[in-house]
Amino acid sequence: MSEPIRELVESLVAEFTRDARGRKVAQLLAQYAAAHEDWRRFGHFQPDCYTRNLVARNEHFEMLVLCWSAGQESPIHDHAGQNCWMGILDGVIEETQFALPRGGGPLEELATRAFARGKVAYISDDIALHRVRPAAGQSGVSLHLYSKPIDVCRIFDRQSGKVLEKTMLYHSVDGVPAVR
Ligand SMILES: [Fe+2]
Repeated sequence: MSEPIRELVESLVAEFTRDARGRKVAQLLAQYAAAHEDWRRFGHFQPDCYTRNLVARNEHFEMLVLCWSAGQESPIHDHAGQNCWMGILDGVIEETQFALPRGGGPLEELATRAFARGKVAYISDDIALHRVRPAAGQSGVSLHLYSKPIDVCRIFDRQSGKVLEKTMLYHSVDGVPAVR
């Protein structure tokens, strides 16, 4: 029996093969996120940091399940020139966008939006930087699609605007915890 999450991956491969910009990606992610639970075998939480769990990676994209315990959050980051979609699988996830810094100084905060299960957010470097976290006091799970895969991104200090390169790691691959 095929898993819905594998069918989603196949649909996404077909979509990116048809259209490199992936115009139907948000719709495909929203349909999956609202209807299915088989992502749970990729859902590993850790007390010290949110986790990045790889579901699929190919020439077009990588797809990850991110698990957020209460109080955990991403750094403010960019997306290495790639397209990023985030579908909500569980809980409510909050996204705060920041303007790309021109020179030094504190980052300018633009807007905060909250997304519930089945909703999909999209961002690219043309739009903004962002920080992602679950709603206050709650955990959450989100499905991230990066086209193309992102191995290194930039993270930004909110107060100084200082930039660091960050190498992306997987906490698990295909449901199996990564050994460190
Ligand atoms: Fe992001």
